[in-house]
Amino acid sequence: MSSFNRRKFFQISTIGGLALSMPIDLKSAPSKEKKILLDPYQSSVGRFSHSYLRKIANKYGSPTYLYDWDLIKTRYLEFRDGFKKHYPKVKVHYAYKANTNLNIISYLTSLGAGAECISIGEMSFALKAGQKGENIIFTSNSKSEQELRFAIKNKVLINIDSLSGLKNLESLVGKLKTTVRVCFRINPDVETTSTHKHISTGHKFTKFGLMYLNEDIYKAAKIAIDNKFMTFEGIHSHIGSQILESKPFEKNAQILSSVSLEIKKRFNYEISFINMGGGLGIPYRDNQARFSPERLASIVCPILKRKFSGFKNLPEIWLEPGRYLVAEAGVLLSKVNSVKMTDIKNFINVDTGFNHLARPIMYEAYHRVRILNGKSKTKKFQVAGNICETGDMLTKDRLLPKPEVGDIIALLDSGAYGFSMASEYNSFYLPAEVAIKGNSDYLIRKREDFNDLLRNQILEKKLI
Ligand SMILES: Cc1ncc(COP(=O)(O)O)c(C=O)c1O
Repeated sequence: MSSFNRRKFFQISTIGGLALSMPIDLKSAPSKEKKILLDPYQSSVGRFSHSYLRKIANKYGSPTYLYDWDLIKTRYLEFRDGFKKHYPKVKVHYAYKANTNLNIISYLTSLGAGAECISIGEMSFALKAGQKGENIIFTSNSKSEQELRFAIKNKVLINIDSLSGLKNLESLVGKLKTTVRVCFRINPDVETTSTHKHISTGHKFTKFGLMYLNEDIYKAAKIAIDNKFMTFEGIHSHIGSQILESKPFEKNAQILSSVSLEIKKRFNYEISFINMGGGLGIPYRDNQARFSPERLASIVCPILKRKFSGFKNLPEIWLEPGRYLVAEAGVLLSKVNSVKMTDIKNFINVDTGFNHLARPIMYEAYHRVRILNGKSKTKKFQVAGNICETGDMLTKDRLLPKPEVGDIIALLDSGAYGFSMASEYNSFYLPAEVAIKGNSDYLIRKREDFNDLLRNQILEKKLI
């Protein structure tokens, strides 16, 4: 058990989209809330007090990713139960690309989530996390024969993205004389306005999915229905990520329902599920409103119920959240190496960068920052990474307390697409990962060292 157990923690709850913190004493947790306070800007990060986070950074070093286990569970149940309230048959598959720490995926498996995977590596992670092949979906726009063989061998559901990809699978199952479960990713041509263009995946100019507009989906459906080695189970569409508007989800649900009804009409074939993908955003900014899974369910579920009202069997609704389940649970702790004040700009130079948190440079993403012993906001600073590139800024100008060298900063909401996108660029070591469950802390990934950088290199004497 951690030596920090007796510290004061803060339990965050959301009331009317407003984050409220209720100080609780972990020694007697869960205790009755005594007093409700507005989350003070510089006193806590989620349920963790600043002093607690500083001690974690001292104990495990820096930079370190920290995950609030209890919040992962809360978000998963919010998703599952939010949909179950509105629809009788719901399956949640966690999108592994958000974070593949073995403990996180095993925990989500234990809570009942399936797995949405993009590679042999992710499928292998899913199997290692205790998933059965039948609960794994393999979605990629570009599948190699090796990947298809792996998926078939492990009885994974294959999500087909193109007619060409379908042909590859047809010839493979013909050769192997083995059955395979398939579904089809549809490109519904749905635009999203609230998300960055690199993660808007459902409009007609993207590389993803069988075009809804040109009937490819029906050609594919016919091939799968006629192929004795294929079991055609459902249709899928993932329209993008960090979406905080209802219209695209609504349109997607309408299109997916219409496609499945058209398949029934044309081929007298009923699919068993409609997979609406992931994409639900989280509030990265202070005072940004939450779009709850329950609200999403209240928008899309009635569409399916209406469209399938005359049917004996409603199709199952499948979902693939990544970010929503793990983003807010994660905090990247980093140490201040130096503070540079100039007439033009002020920089807080930290010991991490886009090698460990790529979202700001890739998607111009906003992460809230806390200086862990900061008192009041004093000056505009940019938080600068230690990578040798001008673009390596973790924030633009922010009003922040001036830190001291050696202070710890926290980059909030880093649990999704944080560690999973991290690299060893500039030969920095990948960070440690730590989980906090209840009031105990656990190391769940060691910090890398030089041996990890060398691991697969072969020093060939004849070349030197
Ligand atoms: C096919 C698919 N499903 C689910 C997701 C998860 O999206 P999010 O993390 O936004 O929920 C992604 C992410 O890009 C994806 O590509």
